[in-house]
Amino acid sequence: PVISMPPQDVQNFTGNDVIFGCEVSAYPMPHLEWKKKGNKMFLPGDDAHISVQARGGPQKYGVTGWLQIQGLKKSDEGVYICHTKNKHGATYASARLKVIDGSSPAFTAGSRSASYSVEYGDYYDHSDDEDEEEYESGDYEN
Ligand SMILES: *[C@@H]1O[C@H](CO)[C@@H](O)[C@H](O)[C@H]1NC(C)=O
Repeated sequence: PVISMPPQDVQNFTGNDVIFGCEVSAYPMPHLEWKKKGNKMFLPGDDAHISVQARGGPQKYGVTGWLQIQGLKKSDEGVYICHTKNKHGATYASARLKVIDGSSPAFTAGSRSASYSVEYGDYYDHSDDEDEEEYESGDYEN
């Protein structure tokens, strides 16, 4: 298998979400698995804030996989490995996740919002109110 698009290093704040992508091409269709460096278990394991997805494509003999980590914790920081194999061989690529402590005062929304103010009234879209009635009277038996 060949990793045509390896996962990229990402960084984000605690509490936010990140996604790693990994695009592989091989024939026959390769298996794609994720691991965190230093852990034996493949992800997601039983960790509810981590999920993995894969689908065929975009290339003919390609598989694209994603590793999503929701609600980042400082302990999620590390190196994540996209591991792929078929009967002809195996290969891997890795990327680093850096988790920045979101409670740092320099990064909180409050310290930035001082220079502007938002009139929330301007953004309220009244068309939502009308749509709601249609959904409620919808006939789902059809
Ligand atoms: C950081 O987290 C936010 C909120 O979850 C998300 O919208 C954004 O795409 C993330 N940035 C990166 C580089 O993953």
